[in-house]
Amino acid sequence: ELGPYSHFMQKEIHEQPRAVADTIEGVIDAGEFSAELFGPDAAEVLEGIEGVLILACGTSYYAGMTARYWIEGIAGLPCSVEIASEYRYRDAVANPKTLVVTLSQSGETLDTMEALKYAKSLGQERTLSICNVPESAIPRASRLVYYTRAGAEIGVASTKAFTTQLVALFTLTATLAKLQGRLDEAGEADYIDALRRLPGSVQHALNLEPQITAWSEHFAPKEHALFLGRGVHYPIALEGALKLKEISYIHAEAYPAGELKHGPLALVTDEMPVVVIAPNDSLLEKVKSNMQEVRARGGQLFVFTDADSNFHPSEGVHVIRAARHVGVLSPIIHTIPVQLLAYHVALVRGTDVDKPRNLAKSVTVE
Ligand code: M6R
Repeated sequence: ELGPYSHFMQKEIHEQPRAVADTIEGVIDAGEFSAELFGPDAAEVLEGIEGVLILACGTSYYAGMTARYWIEGIAGLPCSVEIASEYRYRDAVANPKTLVVTLSQSGETLDTMEALKYAKSLGQERTLSICNVPESAIPRASRLVYYTRAGAEIGVASTKAFTTQLVALFTLTATLAKLQGRLDEAGEADYIDALRRLPGSVQHALNLEPQITAWSEHFAPKEHALFLGRGVHYPIALEGALKLKEISYIHAEAYPAGELKHGPLALVTDEMPVVVIAPNDSLLEKVKSNMQEVRARGGQLFVFTDADSNFHPSEGVHVIRAARHVGVLSPIIHTIPVQLLAYHVALVRGTDVDKPRNLAKSVTVE
């Protein structure tokens, strides 16, 4: 079953070009973003919505955080993202015209299921489940469903489920943007084209594996690591930190890079490797000045950027470049290196990569 791979996690990381291609197949075939992608009566549910509420846990929650940047920036709809176990126990203000989106790889996560029931009990009936397991509990309880087609995910650390959730969420964003009258034909064609090229870009990112393997020796002896990102890449920093702590047991934290000076900078020494997600976007100059703050305290920087950036390695600054900046889909590409980093660090530390201690693949308890 593992083929040439040593672990399911490694296999699942490498399956991502295929998983992404399968998940967007319907959109590519249709050549357009349409409500029907989300079910036969989806137009009725999606039209006239006034906002989006995303409910999820763990990695799925970080996919939701990424989507908030897209939904507000591209579709122009207010979007909030909440950890399911928090939402279900607070007195939330509900709007029946909110689209409630649950994200769950397994479709069986109890916290997310209960949050969905609670959202419905507040009169929010416009529900969409983005899920990887057909006919699981959460899609069955939802009015609309979009299945990610990652295939079975065995490794406890979620990888291909996350990137396919992101492409599903981007598809949702573009569909909502169209319904809101914010996406013209040329813009739609550009997004379709970007999706069509995405599996190839994911494969390019996977080809960085030898360089990332070389970095793992720096991390393996450490007990702490910091991940930084800004904007739509901040959730990717969170995802990188979660992957590292989950499978290597290194304590890892993620911060929006601009927040460093408000506290976490006090932790930085040469014993604290700092991973930075720094693609060549409008925030790059800001991220660079945040990196200088780290270097000035002796912190070692490990930077993931892309070929277009004018970023160069120097003393204490290690750089790995993805092939090119892929615009709005960039967070998907920058997920690959942080997955590979966690995997290779765990290998050096000799942990049980596919079954990390204390964790279950599907969390069906509170
Ligand atoms: O099946 P779900 O997407 O609902 O699972 C949610 C989390 O339990 C899950 O993403 C967890 O955080 C992963 N082990 C992270 O790699």
